[in-house]
Amino acid sequence: MQVTAIDQSKLEQILAKYEGQEGVLISVLQEVQGEFGYVPREAIKNIADALKLFPSQVYGVVTFYAQFYMTPRGRNTIKVCEGTACHVLGATAVLSELKTKLGVAAGETTDDLKFNLESVRCLGTCFLAPVVMINQDYYGKLQPRDVEDILKHYD
Ligand code: FES
Repeated sequence: MQVTAIDQSKLEQILAKYEGQEGVLISVLQEVQGEFGYVPREAIKNIADALKLFPSQVYGVVTFYAQFYMTPRGRNTIKVCEGTACHVLGATAVLSELKTKLGVAAGETTDDLKFNLESVRCLGTCFLAPVVMINQDYYGKLQPRDVEDILKHYD
């Protein structure tokens, strides 16, 4: 996936609010991600400089917390459950169909930034197995042939 250059002026506006403050790294990262949709790699040094930290410290926090992403995210997140109940009832075939239709592997984002595809362990709705969650919507008892119609809801 191509990572586009970020708008430095927007980054500077965010950093100006926090410059020199201590204990604000998480807030800064949340705001940067809110602005850009992810924490761009090229922002790490600027953030470190503004907060008087080492870039490795910033990088360490970004990579530690699952809430932060270092690559652009799609507008819709698809979570395919591969927990036991879903696996037994055909989740692998559903995931495979999604990979084919979207042209990405699990953990990747489509080039048009429309979808993130993720594989997860149990969405807590095993009675609907196999289950896919798109944003806040659940789709249960899925067959691979259902995938195309579901994706149309998000065009
Ligand atoms: S195993 Fe898929 S929802 Fe629980």
